[in-house]
Amino acid sequence: MRKFEEKLVKQAAELRTMQPAKRKGSVKWESPSNIAIVKYWGKYPSQIPANASFSLTLSEAVTSTEIEFEYDSSIVEPELSYSFHGEEKEDFRMRISRYLETIEVYMPWLKHTKFTIRSENTFPHSSGIASSASAMSALALGLCDIEQILFRQKETDFYRKASFLSRMGSGSAARSVYGKMSVWGLTASCKDSSDEYAIPAAKMHPDFENLRDSILIIESGKKHVSSSMGHNLMKTNPYAKLRFEAAEANMQKLCNVVQEGDTGTFIDIMENEALSLHAMMMTSNPGYMLMKPNTVAAIHKIRQFREESGKSVGFTLDAGANVHVIYFEKHAGEVQQFIENELRPLCENENVIHDRMGDGPRKK
Ligand code: PMV
Repeated sequence: MRKFEEKLVKQAAELRTMQPAKRKGSVKWESPSNIAIVKYWGKYPSQIPANASFSLTLSEAVTSTEIEFEYDSSIVEPELSYSFHGEEKEDFRMRISRYLETIEVYMPWLKHTKFTIRSENTFPHSSGIASSASAMSALALGLCDIEQILFRQKETDFYRKASFLSRMGSGSAARSVYGKMSVWGLTASCKDSSDEYAIPAAKMHPDFENLRDSILIIESGKKHVSSSMGHNLMKTNPYAKLRFEAAEANMQKLCNVVQEGDTGTFIDIMENEALSLHAMMMTSNPGYMLMKPNTVAAIHKIRQFREESGKSVGFTLDAGANVHVIYFEKHAGEVQQFIENELRPLCENENVIHDRMGDGPRKK
């Protein structure tokens, strides 16, 4: 068993012997999505990442989750109702139910608790923005908060535990519990980094403050190959080992670049990571492609604009067709004008979501 997990299991054993000080209540947490600059792609059992990743926490794309809870020692498995924007969602209720079973070993009180969970996203439903990071982190933060209320304990490692539990729900969610920038996965580039939870990235240069992310919705709706299938295909990808080494090399460069304020190298690394992620999809067996013609068109236009204008703007991609246009505050005016003129017409229903680096989750 890994070190932090061992600590949580010991804590759980203590909780099993305790009676809750309070039995009923409600908590509400708002947690953001994040976009990876160095990508996590490939994993081992228990959501242990094959390489470390580095992300930017968003500000506007958030999930807000309210959890009403009632502890009742006579029930022996968690009772759960779940709604999303006021509508009951059986598929997500089942996913949460399985998730609660997985983390019960760290939170033994879960099985004696009734939950009513209400969730909302600020970003349009099925806009193509990954919502599992914001959804799973909002839920994990809420559960950690409930544990403190039930047992009147102040958890010193509150965010670390929330990150650990978020990871069990969705790997990338581990990084959403901190503002600005996060690192998840053991890497020589970052002291205190861990495969078990994310940590806030070390100091960054002032030029990176308020980093912008305008998301071009090239295609909304469900992808034909899910992220979990993609991670799984890395097990047989012939380039996987090289990819994991390249990601670690990028982590080492990126951490320096962010501290020194080298925006050009930041963009080079970010674009290399985005294209490498999609190269892994194409070289998997079976190979697949999530980029669409307008994804490629946007990439060419961004690179051409950068060359002609000399502005620090670049792109990154998630496991999908949408393009994240990343740029610095000092160029925001010119870049947004370029997005309006050249990139918005490439988007489905001309949909662009302007976001920026955010301060992380908030208790409401
Ligand atoms: O957290 P998951 O299992 O949905 O995987 C996310 C993978 C990428 O978004 C493609 C990369 C990342 O690091 O967020």
